[in-house]
Amino acid sequence: MIRDWLTADNSAIAKIERESFSDPWTEDMLEQSFLSPAFRGFVEDEGGVKGYVGIICAGDAEIALIAVDPSFRKQGIGTRLLDRAVAFARESGCENLFLEVRKSNEPAKALYLGFGFQAIAVRPKYYSDGEDAIVMVLKI
Ligand SMILES: CC(C)(COP(=O)(O)OP(=O)(O)OC[C@H]1O[C@@H](n2cnc3c(N)ncnc32)[C@H](O)[C@@H]1OP(=O)(O)O)[C@@H](O)C(=O)NCCC(=O)NCCS
Repeated sequence: MIRDWLTADNSAIAKIERESFSDPWTEDMLEQSFLSPAFRGFVEDEGGVKGYVGIICAGDAEIALIAVDPSFRKQGIGTRLLDRAVAFARESGCENLFLEVRKSNEPAKALYLGFGFQAIAVRPKYYSDGEDAIVMVLKI
């Protein structure tokens, strides 16, 4: 079930962040994101949070974060979350949905390409370990 991301979910989300990224968002960073009126998030809840997506809508929209619990990947959860985020961006009147992804992140790139995202730019050494980011956009 996809539902709204509540502040009470932040601890479970921070755990999945740590399991998924070398530079995870901390619980404090997640709390801060809720202070922005432009931030909206959704979670997949199946007896607990199994995945989440955070989106910032201000003119254009941007996927701020998305991940699925490592034990529940390849079961369609990422697709359902991204579907919800795209629908939200559309409902909000945004024309473009942007995101950044590590050049080496093949699972995420495959997910985004499947949705019709197109790579439009490279941000060299964008991440703290020196890896490039690919900027992608979906016209909605
Ligand atoms: C990227 C991520 C969110 C995908 O979530 P998921 O629930 O596993 O994705 P789905 O099961 O909905 O898969 C959808 C598509 O993504 C692609 N994909 C997912 N996992 C993949 C993998 N390990 N290798 C290659 N492609 C993959 C496939 O195209 C897949 O379609 P298919 O099942 O028809 O082949 C998940 O791998 C994840 O949490 N990764 C770590 C966090 C991360 O990198 N987030 C993105 C930051 S930019």
